[in-house]
Amino acid sequence: MKILGIETSCDETALAIYDTKAGILANTVHSQVDLHAAFGGVVPELASRDHVRKLIPLLRQTLTEAHLTLNSLNAIAYTAGPGLTGALLVGAGFAKSLGFALSLPVIAVHHMEAHLLAPLLEPEPPTPPFVALLVSGGHTQIYEVQAIGQYRLLGQSIDDAAGEAFDKIAKLLSLGYPGGPKVSVLADKGKPGFYTFPRPMIDRDNFDFSFSGLKTAVLHAYMKSAKTEQDKANIAYAFQEAIVETLLHKCRKALNYTGLNKLVVAGGVSANRQLREKLQTLDDTIVYFPRLMFCTDNAAMVALAGSYHLDDANPNPLHIWVSPRWEL
Ligand code: KG4
Ligand code: ZN
Repeated sequence: MKILGIETSCDETALAIYDTKAGILANTVHSQVDLHAAFGGVVPELASRDHVRKLIPLLRQTLTEAHLTLNSLNAIAYTAGPGLTGALLVGAGFAKSLGFALSLPVIAVHHMEAHLLAPLLEPEPPTPPFVALLVSGGHTQIYEVQAIGQYRLLGQSIDDAAGEAFDKIAKLLSLGYPGGPKVSVLADKGKPGFYTFPRPMIDRDNFDFSFSGLKTAVLHAYMKSAKTEQDKANIAYAFQEAIVETLLHKCRKALNYTGLNKLVVAGGVSANRQLREKLQTLDDTIVYFPRLMFCTDNAAMVALAGSYHLDDANPNPLHIWVSPRWEL
Protein backbone atom coordinates (compact mmCIF):
# COMPACT_ATOMS: atom_id res chain seq x y z
CA MET A 1 0.00 0.00 0.00
CA LYS A 2 1.33 3.42 -0.97
CA ILE A 3 -0.15 6.26 1.03
CA LEU A 4 0.25 9.94 0.17
CA GLY A 5 0.44 12.05 3.34
CA ILE A 6 -0.52 15.74 3.32
CA GLU A 7 0.28 18.13 6.17
CA THR A 8 -0.94 21.75 6.21
CA SER A 9 -2.03 22.31 9.81
CA CYS A 10 0.19 25.32 10.47
CA ASP A 11 3.26 26.81 8.79
CA GLU A 12 4.73 23.84 6.94
CA THR A 13 3.42 22.50 3.66
CA ALA A 14 4.52 18.88 3.60
CA LEU A 15 3.91 15.81 1.46
CA ALA A 16 5.25 12.29 1.73
CA ILE A 17 4.65 8.82 0.36
CA TYR A 18 4.75 5.93 2.81
CA ASP A 19 4.79 2.35 1.57
CA THR A 20 3.52 -0.15 4.16
CA LYS A 21 6.23 -2.59 3.02
CA ALA A 22 9.17 -0.39 1.99
CA GLY A 23 8.71 2.59 4.36
CA ILE A 24 9.15 6.23 3.34
CA LEU A 25 9.59 6.64 -0.42
CA ALA A 26 9.59 10.44 -0.52
CA ASN A 27 9.35 13.27 1.96
CA THR A 28 9.15 16.96 1.06
CA VAL A 29 8.62 19.98 3.29
CA HIS A 30 8.27 23.64 2.49
CA SER A 31 8.70 25.80 5.59
CA GLN A 32 6.92 29.18 5.70
CA VAL A 33 9.41 30.60 8.20
CA ASP A 34 10.57 33.40 5.89
CA LEU A 35 6.98 34.37 5.13
CA HIS A 36 5.99 34.82 8.79
CA ALA A 37 9.32 35.99 10.26
CA ALA A 38 8.57 39.67 9.67
CA PHE A 39 5.40 39.33 11.80
CA GLY A 40 7.06 37.50 14.69
CA GLY A 41 4.66 34.55 14.43
CA VAL A 42 2.32 32.67 12.12
CA VAL A 43 -0.24 34.80 10.24
CA PRO A 44 -3.09 32.33 9.54
CA GLU A 45 -4.35 33.88 6.30
CA LEU A 46 -0.84 34.05 4.84
CA ALA A 47 -0.30 30.44 5.88
CA SER A 48 -3.44 29.27 4.01
CA ARG A 49 -2.52 31.17 0.84
CA ASP A 50 1.00 29.79 0.83
CA HIS A 51 -0.30 26.20 1.23
CA VAL A 52 -2.44 26.82 -1.87
CA ARG A 53 0.63 27.96 -3.81
CA LYS A 54 2.93 25.14 -2.71
CA LEU A 55 0.79 21.97 -2.70
CA ILE A 56 0.86 21.19 -6.43
CA PRO A 57 4.60 21.85 -6.98
CA LEU A 58 5.37 19.79 -3.86
CA LEU A 59 3.15 16.95 -5.04
CA ARG A 60 5.10 16.86 -8.33
CA GLN A 61 8.39 16.91 -6.43
CA THR A 62 7.23 14.15 -4.08
CA LEU A 63 6.16 11.87 -6.94
CA THR A 64 9.46 12.49 -8.76
CA GLU A 65 11.45 11.70 -5.61
CA ALA A 66 9.52 8.43 -5.18
CA HIS A 67 9.77 7.57 -8.92
CA LEU A 68 5.99 7.15 -8.98
CA THR A 69 2.96 8.52 -10.79
CA LEU A 70 -0.39 9.42 -9.26
CA ASN A 71 -1.78 6.10 -10.47
CA SER A 72 0.52 4.15 -8.15
CA LEU A 73 -1.07 5.62 -5.02
CA ASN A 74 -3.50 3.50 -2.97
CA ALA A 75 -4.74 5.99 -0.38
CA ILE A 76 -4.45 9.61 0.74
CA ALA A 77 -4.09 10.78 4.35
CA TYR A 78 -4.37 14.43 5.37
CA THR A 79 -4.12 16.29 8.67
CA ALA A 80 -7.69 17.20 9.66
CA GLY A 81 -6.81 18.82 12.99
CA PRO A 82 -5.92 20.25 15.37
CA GLY A 83 -4.53 23.31 13.64
CA LEU A 84 -5.44 26.55 11.88
CA THR A 85 -8.88 26.25 10.26
CA GLY A 86 -7.99 27.84 6.93
CA ALA A 87 -4.69 25.99 6.63
CA LEU A 88 -6.37 22.66 7.43
CA LEU A 89 -9.12 23.35 4.89
CA VAL A 90 -6.56 23.85 2.12
CA GLY A 91 -5.04 20.42 2.81
CA ALA A 92 -8.45 18.79 3.22
CA GLY A 93 -9.80 20.26 -0.03
CA PHE A 94 -6.68 19.20 -1.89
CA ALA A 95 -6.76 15.66 -0.43
CA LYS A 96 -10.46 15.13 -1.12
CA SER A 97 -10.25 16.48 -4.68
CA LEU A 98 -7.30 14.25 -5.46
CA GLY A 99 -9.08 11.29 -3.88
CA PHE A 100 -12.23 12.02 -5.90
CA ALA A 101 -10.29 12.31 -9.17
CA LEU A 102 -8.30 9.12 -8.56
CA SER A 103 -11.10 7.15 -6.79
CA LEU A 104 -8.93 6.64 -3.73
CA PRO A 105 -9.89 6.42 -0.06
CA VAL A 106 -9.11 9.61 1.86
CA ILE A 107 -8.30 9.40 5.57
CA ALA A 108 -8.54 12.27 8.07
CA VAL A 109 -5.54 12.09 10.41
CA HIS A 110 -5.15 13.59 13.89
CA HIS A 111 -2.00 15.73 13.90
CA MET A 112 -0.98 14.72 17.44
CA GLU A 113 -1.52 11.02 16.76
CA ALA A 114 0.75 11.48 13.74
CA HIS A 115 3.42 13.05 16.00
CA LEU A 116 2.96 10.23 18.51
CA LEU A 117 3.53 7.61 15.81
CA ALA A 118 6.55 9.37 14.21
CA PRO A 119 9.10 7.29 16.23
CA LEU A 120 7.63 4.22 14.51
CA LEU A 121 9.34 5.41 11.32
CA GLU A 122 12.72 4.63 12.90
CA PRO A 123 14.65 1.38 12.27
CA GLU A 124 14.02 0.09 15.82
CA PRO A 125 10.47 1.26 16.51
CA PRO A 126 8.78 1.08 19.92
CA THR A 127 5.94 -1.37 20.42
CA PRO A 128 3.06 -0.54 22.80
CA PRO A 129 2.44 -0.36 25.65
CA PHE A 130 4.45 2.78 26.31
CA VAL A 131 4.19 6.26 27.79
CA ALA A 132 4.20 9.08 25.22
CA LEU A 133 5.25 12.67 25.83
CA LEU A 134 3.99 14.97 23.09
CA VAL A 135 5.63 18.39 23.06
CA SER A 136 4.75 20.71 20.21
CA GLY A 137 3.91 24.35 19.62
CA GLY A 138 0.29 23.90 20.65
CA HIS A 139 0.33 20.84 22.94
CA THR A 140 2.15 19.36 25.91
CA GLN A 141 0.59 16.04 26.81
CA ILE A 142 1.44 12.72 28.44
CA TYR A 143 -0.43 9.62 27.26
CA GLU A 144 -0.48 6.01 28.27
CA VAL A 145 -0.55 4.10 24.99
CA GLN A 146 -1.86 0.56 25.45
CA ALA A 147 -2.10 -0.07 21.70
CA ILE A 148 -2.02 2.04 18.56
CA GLY A 149 -5.37 3.83 18.61
CA GLN A 150 -5.81 3.39 22.40
CA TYR A 151 -4.63 6.56 24.06
CA ARG A 152 -5.29 7.48 27.69
CA LEU A 153 -4.49 11.11 28.46
CA LEU A 154 -2.65 11.25 31.81
CA GLY A 155 -1.93 14.96 31.86
CA GLN A 156 -1.45 18.09 29.80
CA SER A 157 -0.57 21.75 29.98
CA ILE A 158 -3.25 23.87 31.59
CA ASP A 159 -1.94 26.98 29.81
CA ASP A 160 1.05 27.47 27.44
CA ALA A 161 2.51 24.48 25.62
CA ALA A 162 6.26 23.85 25.95
CA GLY A 163 6.92 24.97 22.36
CA GLU A 164 4.80 28.07 22.88
CA ALA A 165 6.88 28.92 25.97
CA PHE A 166 10.08 28.56 23.90
CA ASP A 167 8.59 30.82 21.22
CA LYS A 168 7.51 33.48 23.72
CA ILE A 169 10.91 33.53 25.44
CA ALA A 170 12.55 33.86 22.02
CA LYS A 171 10.38 36.91 21.38
CA LEU A 172 11.26 38.39 24.78
CA LEU A 173 14.98 37.92 24.08
CA SER A 174 14.51 39.37 20.56
CA LEU A 175 15.64 36.16 18.91
CA GLY A 176 12.83 36.11 16.37
CA TYR A 177 10.63 33.33 15.10
CA PRO A 178 10.56 30.33 15.25
CA GLY A 179 11.81 30.46 18.79
CA GLY A 180 12.59 26.95 19.98
CA PRO A 181 15.76 26.27 18.01
CA LYS A 182 17.04 29.84 18.58
CA VAL A 183 16.60 29.69 22.38
CA SER A 184 18.32 26.32 22.34
CA VAL A 185 21.34 27.64 20.40
CA LEU A 186 21.62 30.64 22.75
CA ALA A 187 21.27 28.40 25.81
CA ASP A 188 24.38 26.51 24.69
CA LYS A 189 26.35 29.71 25.31
CA GLY A 190 24.78 30.21 28.73
CA LYS A 191 26.39 29.41 32.08
CA PRO A 192 24.73 27.64 35.00
CA GLY A 193 24.33 29.22 38.43
CA PHE A 194 23.23 32.71 37.40
CA TYR A 195 19.47 32.21 37.25
CA THR A 196 17.06 29.64 38.65
CA PHE A 197 13.50 29.46 37.41
CA PRO A 198 10.57 27.52 38.89
CA ARG A 199 9.79 23.93 37.86
CA PRO A 200 6.02 24.48 37.65
CA MET A 201 3.65 21.95 39.25
CA ILE A 202 6.27 19.29 39.97
CA ASP A 203 4.95 18.92 43.53
CA ARG A 204 1.38 18.33 42.33
CA ASP A 205 0.00 14.84 42.44
CA ASN A 206 -0.88 14.80 38.74
CA PHE A 207 0.70 14.79 35.30
CA ASP A 208 -0.33 18.31 34.30
CA PHE A 209 1.96 21.14 33.25
CA SER A 210 1.82 24.93 33.46
CA PHE A 211 4.43 27.04 31.70
CA SER A 212 2.80 30.45 31.89
CA GLY A 213 4.27 31.32 35.34
CA LEU A 214 7.72 30.25 34.18
CA LYS A 215 7.41 32.69 31.30
CA THR A 216 6.56 35.51 33.74
CA ALA A 217 9.53 34.59 35.97
CA VAL A 218 11.82 34.79 32.94
CA LEU A 219 10.32 38.15 31.97
CA HIS A 220 11.00 39.62 35.43
CA ALA A 221 14.56 38.28 35.49
CA TYR A 222 15.25 39.71 32.05
CA MET A 223 13.84 43.14 32.97
CA LYS A 224 16.14 43.30 36.02
CA SER A 225 19.22 42.11 34.11
CA ALA A 226 21.76 44.30 32.26
CA LYS A 227 20.50 42.63 29.05
CA THR A 228 23.98 41.81 27.79
CA GLU A 229 24.42 38.90 25.36
CA GLN A 230 25.80 36.80 28.21
CA ASP A 231 22.80 37.67 30.43
CA LYS A 232 20.48 36.58 27.66
CA ALA A 233 22.39 33.34 27.19
CA ASN A 234 22.36 32.64 30.94
CA ILE A 235 18.60 33.27 31.04
CA ALA A 236 18.01 31.00 28.01
CA TYR A 237 20.11 28.31 29.71
CA ALA A 238 18.14 28.47 32.97
CA PHE A 239 14.79 28.61 31.14
CA GLN A 240 15.60 25.56 29.03
CA GLU A 241 16.85 23.74 32.13
CA ALA A 242 13.56 24.47 33.96
CA ILE A 243 11.42 23.21 31.06
CA VAL A 244 13.53 20.10 30.50
CA GLU A 245 13.61 19.18 34.19
CA THR A 246 9.86 19.67 34.51
CA LEU A 247 9.21 17.41 31.51
CA LEU A 248 11.69 14.84 32.86
CA HIS A 249 10.02 14.85 36.28
CA LYS A 250 6.51 14.30 34.88
CA CYS A 251 7.71 11.54 32.54
CA ARG A 252 9.39 9.73 35.45
CA LYS A 253 6.17 10.04 37.42
CA ALA A 254 4.06 8.69 34.52
CA LEU A 255 6.44 5.76 34.02
CA ASN A 256 6.27 4.89 37.73
CA TYR A 257 2.48 5.25 37.79
CA THR A 258 1.90 3.02 34.74
CA GLY A 259 4.72 0.59 35.55
CA LEU A 260 5.88 0.90 31.94
CA ASN A 261 9.54 1.06 30.90
CA LYS A 262 9.24 2.59 27.43
CA LEU A 263 8.93 6.29 26.71
CA VAL A 264 8.13 7.80 23.33
CA VAL A 265 8.85 11.51 22.90
CA ALA A 266 7.62 13.43 19.84
CA GLY A 267 6.56 16.85 18.52
CA GLY A 268 8.68 19.89 17.63
CA VAL A 269 10.27 20.29 21.08
CA SER A 270 11.52 16.69 20.96
CA ALA A 271 14.18 18.07 18.58
CA ASN A 272 15.68 19.87 21.60
CA ARG A 273 19.12 18.41 22.26
CA GLN A 274 19.07 19.11 26.00
CA LEU A 275 15.71 17.38 26.35
CA ARG A 276 16.90 14.38 24.34
CA GLU A 277 20.02 14.03 26.49
CA LYS A 278 18.21 14.46 29.81
CA LEU A 279 15.44 11.96 29.04
CA GLN A 280 18.06 9.34 28.15
CA THR A 281 19.12 9.42 31.80
CA LEU A 282 15.82 7.93 33.00
CA ASP A 283 16.62 4.71 34.88
CA ASP A 284 15.48 1.38 33.42
CA THR A 285 13.69 3.13 30.56
CA ILE A 286 14.14 2.86 26.82
CA VAL A 287 13.48 6.25 25.22
CA TYR A 288 12.37 6.58 21.61
CA PHE A 289 12.57 9.78 19.57
CA PRO A 290 11.88 10.49 15.91
CA ARG A 291 14.92 11.55 13.85
CA LEU A 292 15.18 15.35 13.88
CA MET A 293 13.37 15.88 10.56
CA PHE A 294 10.36 13.93 11.84
CA CYS A 295 10.16 15.81 15.18
CA THR A 296 8.75 18.97 13.61
CA ASP A 297 5.77 18.98 11.25
CA ASN A 298 6.09 16.61 8.32
CA ALA A 299 3.84 14.44 6.16
CA ALA A 300 5.71 11.15 6.63
CA MET A 301 4.10 10.84 10.06
CA VAL A 302 0.69 11.72 8.55
CA ALA A 303 0.98 9.03 5.89
CA LEU A 304 2.10 6.53 8.54
CA ALA A 305 -0.83 7.44 10.82
CA GLY A 306 -3.13 7.04 7.79
CA SER A 307 -1.84 3.49 7.31
CA TYR A 308 -3.34 2.58 10.69
CA HIS A 309 -6.73 4.03 9.78
CA LEU A 310 -7.29 2.73 6.27
CA ASP A 311 -10.75 1.50 7.24
CA ASP A 312 -11.78 4.92 8.53
CA ALA A 313 -11.88 6.75 5.18
CA ASN A 314 -15.09 8.74 4.78
CA PRO A 315 -16.93 7.22 1.77
CA ASN A 316 -18.46 10.57 0.76
CA PRO A 317 -15.96 12.11 -1.69
CA LEU A 318 -17.42 15.57 -1.15
CA HIS A 319 -17.18 15.52 2.64
CA ILE A 320 -14.32 17.95 3.28
CA TRP A 321 -13.84 17.62 7.01
CA VAL A 322 -11.51 19.43 9.39
CA SER A 323 -11.58 19.79 13.17
CA PRO A 324 -9.34 22.64 14.38
CA ARG A 325 -9.78 21.65 18.05
CA TRP A 326 -9.97 17.90 17.64
CA GLU A 327 -9.13 15.96 20.82
CA LEU A 328 -7.20 12.74 20.53
O1 KG4 B 1 5.33 19.93 16.23
P1 KG4 B 1 5.67 21.26 15.69
O2 KG4 B 1 6.58 21.34 14.49
O3 KG4 B 1 4.38 22.05 15.31
C1 KG4 B 1 3.21 21.96 16.08
O4 KG4 B 1 2.48 20.95 15.93
O5 KG4 B 1 3.04 22.87 16.90
O6 KG4 B 1 6.30 22.08 16.89
C2 KG4 B 1 6.73 23.39 16.73
C3 KG4 B 1 7.29 23.87 18.07
C4 KG4 B 1 7.61 25.34 18.05
O7 KG4 B 1 7.06 25.93 19.21
C5 KG4 B 1 9.12 25.36 18.07
O8 KG4 B 1 9.65 26.51 18.70
C6 KG4 B 1 9.44 24.09 18.84
O9 KG4 B 1 8.50 23.16 18.37
N1 KG4 B 1 10.81 23.60 18.56
C7 KG4 B 1 11.78 23.54 19.50
C8 KG4 B 1 12.94 23.07 18.84
N2 KG4 B 1 12.63 22.86 17.52
C9 KG4 B 1 11.31 23.19 17.38
N3 KG4 B 1 11.77 23.84 20.81
C10 KG4 B 1 12.90 23.67 21.48
N4 KG4 B 1 14.06 23.25 20.95
C11 KG4 B 1 14.12 22.93 19.63
N5 KG4 B 1 15.28 22.52 19.10
ZN1 ZN C 1 3.05 19.48 14.89
